[in-house]
Amino acid sequence: MKILFLGDIVGKSGRNAVLQRLPFLQQAYDVDFTIINAENSAHGKGITTKIYQSLKDAGVDVITLGNHAYSKREIMDQFDHCPDLIRPENMDPAETGRGYVVRECMGKRIAVINLLGTIFMDQAAESPITVMKRLLKEIEAEIIIVDLHAEATGEKEIFFHIFKDQVTAVFGTHTHVQTADEQILDGCAYITDAGMCGTFQSILGRSVEEVLARTLNSEKTHFVPAEGPAVICGCVVEIDDQTNRAVNITRIMERPAE
Ligand SMILES: [Fe+2]
Ligand SMILES: [Fe+2]
Repeated sequence: MKILFLGDIVGKSGRNAVLQRLPFLQQAYDVDFTIINAENSAHGKGITTKIYQSLKDAGVDVITLGNHAYSKREIMDQFDHCPDLIRPENMDPAETGRGYVVRECMGKRIAVINLLGTIFMDQAAESPITVMKRLLKEIEAEIIIVDLHAEATGEKEIFFHIFKDQVTAVFGTHTHVQTADEQILDGCAYITDAGMCGTFQSILGRSVEEVLARTLNSEKTHFVPAEGPAVICGCVVEIDDQTNRAVNITRIMERPAE
């Protein structure tokens, strides 16, 4: 089985690039199950039901979020209508929604879990390590995938080494910059950050002009997603059908043509 994971979709350019490229990626990598982090998909912060539906219609199985999970308030009472949408399990306050789902694919149960880091972030109620230990006692699945939405590289590596024997893959998200440390260790796939799907010439997907006006001139600007050709970032993980363990990870970074 092959699982495609794409990092944070940022704004319209990221959404359009994913919708355009997803069929090709799924075909090229022979993908069976697709997970995408969409925490910045609605104008850079949060997600809407319309975006959720467009990703589902495009063939995404599970959509994860992060610290911006609740940024678009219209999603708050819509989680029951978006069964494949998860927000970090340890979000504080966890006002609504769920932190994991279990789905079936090729006769296997796949659990997808979303967690927040605690270092240089202040939205997590509990350590992702504590929460993960608790979840492992209640989740029944052959394959367990974690989207660890965290700022600190070390926190993500620590998590991977603690849980590598019990989970199938740990994908880091949130920094929007892909790391080149993808690896398989003891049957668990890992990358510190999958990267983003959003405008390449930007500051983490955000308008350069807007961020510089805020930084250099102390202007009180609103978040403006950058416009322009988008990069697509993520990984494909191959899972052995007999052992349910990861055997290969391929890093994907499709940059726009120069
Ligand atoms: Fe993000
Ligand atoms: Fe984030």
